[in-house]
Amino acid sequence: MSLKLGDTAPNFTIATTKGEINLHQWSGDSWVFFFSHPADFTPVCTTEMGRTAQLAPEFEARNTKSLGLSTDTVEEHLKWISDVDDTQNTVLQFPIVADPDHKIAEMYDMIHSGESSTAAVRSVFIIDPDNKIRLTMTYPMSVGRNFDEILRVLDALQTGDKYSVATPADWRPGNDVIIPPSIDNEKAKQMFPQGWNEIRSYLRLTSI
Ligand code: BEZ
Repeated sequence: MSLKLGDTAPNFTIATTKGEINLHQWSGDSWVFFFSHPADFTPVCTTEMGRTAQLAPEFEARNTKSLGLSTDTVEEHLKWISDVDDTQNTVLQFPIVADPDHKIAEMYDMIHSGESSTAAVRSVFIIDPDNKIRLTMTYPMSVGRNFDEILRVLDALQTGDKYSVATPADWRPGNDVIIPPSIDNEKAKQMFPQGWNEIRSYLRLTSI
Protein backbone atom coordinates (compact mmCIF):
# COMPACT_ATOMS: atom_id res chain seq x y z
CA MET A 1 0.00 0.00 0.00
CA SER A 2 1.47 3.35 -0.97
CA LEU A 3 1.96 6.11 1.56
CA LYS A 4 -0.27 9.17 1.30
CA LEU A 5 0.13 12.81 2.24
CA GLY A 6 -0.82 13.25 5.90
CA ASP A 7 0.12 9.67 6.83
CA THR A 8 2.57 9.20 9.68
CA ALA A 9 5.94 8.32 8.16
CA PRO A 10 6.47 4.67 9.13
CA ASN A 11 9.14 4.49 11.80
CA PHE A 12 12.20 2.25 11.48
CA THR A 13 15.50 1.54 13.14
CA ILE A 14 18.25 0.85 10.63
CA ALA A 15 21.99 0.92 10.02
CA THR A 16 23.29 4.05 8.32
CA THR A 17 26.65 5.59 7.52
CA LYS A 18 26.32 7.51 10.80
CA GLY A 19 25.40 4.49 12.93
CA GLU A 20 22.00 3.05 13.77
CA ILE A 21 19.13 5.50 13.42
CA ASN A 22 15.56 5.40 14.66
CA LEU A 23 13.76 7.74 12.26
CA HIS A 24 11.35 9.38 14.70
CA GLN A 25 13.98 9.82 17.43
CA TRP A 26 16.65 11.05 15.01
CA SER A 27 14.35 13.60 13.36
CA GLY A 28 13.32 15.12 16.70
CA ASP A 29 11.85 18.59 16.09
CA SER A 30 13.25 18.81 12.56
CA TRP A 31 11.80 18.36 9.12
CA VAL A 32 13.27 15.45 7.13
CA PHE A 33 14.20 15.24 3.46
CA PHE A 34 14.19 11.44 3.02
CA PHE A 35 15.23 10.36 -0.45
CA SER A 36 16.17 7.14 -2.15
CA HIS A 37 18.54 6.55 -5.03
CA PRO A 38 19.07 3.44 -7.15
CA ALA A 39 22.66 2.50 -6.40
CA ASP A 40 26.05 3.61 -5.14
CA PHE A 41 28.82 4.28 -7.70
CA THR A 42 26.39 5.44 -10.39
CA PRO A 43 26.62 8.81 -12.15
CA VAL A 44 23.27 10.52 -11.55
CA CYS A 45 23.21 9.40 -7.92
CA THR A 46 26.72 10.75 -7.38
CA THR A 47 25.64 14.21 -8.52
CA GLU A 48 22.49 14.11 -6.36
CA MET A 49 24.42 13.12 -3.23
CA GLY A 50 26.96 15.84 -3.95
CA ARG A 51 24.24 18.44 -4.40
CA THR A 52 22.55 17.46 -1.14
CA ALA A 53 25.88 17.75 0.67
CA GLN A 54 26.63 21.15 -0.94
CA LEU A 55 23.20 22.41 0.15
CA ALA A 56 23.68 21.43 3.82
CA PRO A 57 23.54 25.09 5.00
CA GLU A 58 20.29 25.60 3.04
CA PHE A 59 18.69 22.53 4.61
CA GLU A 60 19.90 23.61 8.04
CA ALA A 61 18.40 27.08 7.53
CA ARG A 62 15.07 25.29 6.97
CA ASN A 63 15.47 23.10 10.10
CA THR A 64 15.65 20.06 7.81
CA LYS A 65 17.75 16.91 8.11
CA SER A 66 18.69 14.98 4.97
CA LEU A 67 18.53 11.18 4.94
CA GLY A 68 19.51 9.15 1.86
CA LEU A 69 18.79 5.49 1.13
CA SER A 70 19.77 2.84 -1.34
CA THR A 71 19.72 -0.94 -1.31
CA ASP A 72 23.49 -1.08 -0.76
CA THR A 73 25.50 -1.80 2.40
CA VAL A 74 27.12 0.64 4.84
CA GLU A 75 30.57 -0.47 3.60
CA GLU A 76 29.62 0.32 -0.02
CA HIS A 77 28.10 3.67 0.99
CA LEU A 78 31.25 4.67 2.91
CA LYS A 79 33.55 3.86 -0.03
CA TRP A 80 31.26 5.72 -2.41
CA ILE A 81 31.04 8.82 -0.17
CA SER A 82 34.80 9.33 -0.73
CA ASP A 83 34.11 9.41 -4.47
CA VAL A 84 31.18 11.80 -4.01
CA ASP A 85 33.36 14.14 -1.95
CA ASP A 86 36.20 13.96 -4.51
CA THR A 87 34.13 14.39 -7.64
CA GLN A 88 31.51 16.85 -6.35
CA ASN A 89 33.94 18.95 -4.31
CA THR A 90 32.04 18.63 -1.05
CA VAL A 91 32.03 16.88 2.33
CA LEU A 92 28.99 14.65 2.64
CA GLN A 93 27.87 14.57 6.27
CA PHE A 94 24.26 13.42 6.28
CA PRO A 95 23.45 9.74 6.95
CA ILE A 96 22.68 7.25 4.18
CA VAL A 97 20.51 4.28 5.10
CA ALA A 98 21.86 0.84 4.16
CA ASP A 99 18.94 -1.25 2.99
CA PRO A 100 20.41 -4.31 1.22
CA ASP A 101 17.39 -6.49 2.07
CA HIS A 102 14.94 -3.77 0.80
CA LYS A 103 13.07 -3.65 4.12
CA ILE A 104 12.71 0.14 4.19
CA ALA A 105 12.47 0.52 0.40
CA GLU A 106 9.45 -1.81 0.42
CA MET A 107 7.93 -0.11 3.48
CA TYR A 108 8.10 3.23 1.60
CA ASP A 109 7.16 1.73 -1.81
CA MET A 110 10.47 2.84 -3.33
CA ILE A 111 10.93 -0.19 -5.58
CA HIS A 112 8.92 0.13 -8.79
CA SER A 113 9.02 -3.09 -10.75
CA GLY A 114 8.83 -1.26 -14.09
CA GLU A 115 12.23 0.30 -13.32
CA SER A 116 13.99 -2.44 -11.28
CA SER A 117 13.08 -5.36 -9.04
CA THR A 118 15.89 -4.67 -6.55
CA ALA A 119 16.92 -1.01 -6.73
CA ALA A 120 14.95 1.98 -5.44
CA VAL A 121 13.68 4.68 -7.77
CA ARG A 122 14.32 8.33 -6.89
CA SER A 123 11.65 8.81 -4.22
CA VAL A 124 11.34 11.92 -2.07
CA PHE A 125 9.44 12.15 1.21
CA ILE A 126 9.28 15.48 3.02
CA ILE A 127 8.34 14.70 6.62
CA ASP A 128 7.36 17.38 9.14
CA PRO A 129 8.32 17.59 12.83
CA ASP A 130 5.08 15.73 13.73
CA ASN A 131 6.33 12.83 11.55
CA LYS A 132 3.62 13.47 8.95
CA ILE A 133 4.37 12.99 5.27
CA ARG A 134 3.85 16.40 3.64
CA LEU A 135 5.15 15.81 0.12
CA THR A 136 6.06 12.86 -2.08
CA MET A 137 7.81 12.94 -5.45
CA THR A 138 9.01 10.08 -7.60
CA TYR A 139 11.61 10.49 -10.32
CA PRO A 140 12.78 7.77 -12.69
CA MET A 141 16.28 6.40 -12.42
CA SER A 142 17.50 8.33 -15.45
CA VAL A 143 16.52 11.83 -14.21
CA GLY A 144 18.35 13.68 -11.43
CA ARG A 145 16.13 15.66 -9.10
CA ASN A 146 15.75 19.44 -9.04
CA PHE A 147 17.08 20.52 -5.65
CA ASP A 148 15.85 24.10 -6.08
CA GLU A 149 12.35 22.63 -6.09
CA ILE A 150 12.99 20.61 -2.95
CA LEU A 151 14.11 23.75 -1.09
CA ARG A 152 11.21 25.73 -2.58
CA VAL A 153 8.70 23.15 -1.37
CA LEU A 154 10.17 23.25 2.13
CA ASP A 155 9.82 27.05 2.09
CA ALA A 156 6.23 26.81 0.82
CA LEU A 157 5.18 24.19 3.38
CA GLN A 158 6.76 26.08 6.26
CA THR A 159 5.27 29.40 5.11
CA GLY A 160 1.85 27.78 4.68
CA ASP A 161 2.00 26.33 8.20
CA LYS A 162 3.16 29.60 9.75
CA TYR A 163 0.65 31.96 8.10
CA SER A 164 -2.26 29.59 7.21
CA VAL A 165 -1.87 30.42 3.53
CA ALA A 166 -1.41 28.59 0.23
CA THR A 167 1.22 29.42 -2.38
CA PRO A 168 0.64 30.01 -6.09
CA ALA A 169 2.38 28.36 -9.03
CA ASP A 170 6.13 28.91 -9.08
CA TRP A 171 5.93 30.77 -5.76
CA ARG A 172 9.21 31.88 -4.24
CA PRO A 173 9.80 33.38 -0.78
CA GLY A 174 8.94 37.09 -0.93
CA ASN A 175 6.15 36.60 -3.50
CA ASP A 176 2.50 37.15 -2.57
CA VAL A 177 0.61 34.22 -1.08
CA ILE A 178 -2.99 33.03 -1.40
CA ILE A 179 -5.66 33.36 1.29
CA PRO A 180 -7.38 29.96 1.12
CA PRO A 181 -11.12 29.94 0.27
CA SER A 182 -11.76 28.25 3.65
CA ILE A 183 -11.01 31.63 5.31
CA ASP A 184 -13.93 34.03 4.78
CA ASN A 185 -13.43 37.79 4.41
CA GLU A 186 -14.40 38.53 8.04
CA LYS A 187 -11.78 36.14 9.35
CA ALA A 188 -9.28 37.27 6.71
CA LYS A 189 -9.56 40.88 8.02
CA GLN A 190 -8.30 39.68 11.41
CA MET A 191 -5.63 37.40 10.01
CA PHE A 192 -4.34 39.69 7.25
CA PRO A 193 -4.76 43.30 8.49
CA GLN A 194 -2.44 44.37 5.66
CA GLY A 195 -5.35 43.62 3.28
CA TRP A 196 -5.38 41.70 0.05
CA ASN A 197 -5.88 41.96 -3.68
CA GLU A 198 -9.17 40.26 -4.59
CA ILE A 199 -8.84 39.13 -8.21
CA ARG A 200 -11.84 36.82 -7.83
CA SER A 201 -13.76 36.00 -4.65
CA TYR A 202 -11.85 32.71 -4.63
CA LEU A 203 -8.48 34.25 -5.58
CA ARG A 204 -7.17 36.65 -2.94
CA LEU A 205 -3.49 37.51 -2.84
CA THR A 206 -1.73 39.05 0.12
CA SER A 207 1.80 39.85 1.19
CA ILE A 208 3.34 38.42 4.35
C1 BEZ B 1 22.58 6.77 -12.08
O1 BEZ B 1 22.58 7.16 -10.92
O2 BEZ B 1 23.28 7.28 -12.94
C2 BEZ B 1 21.68 5.63 -12.46
C3 BEZ B 1 21.41 4.63 -11.55
C4 BEZ B 1 20.60 3.58 -11.95
C5 BEZ B 1 20.05 3.55 -13.22
C6 BEZ B 1 20.31 4.59 -14.10
C7 BEZ B 1 21.13 5.65 -13.72
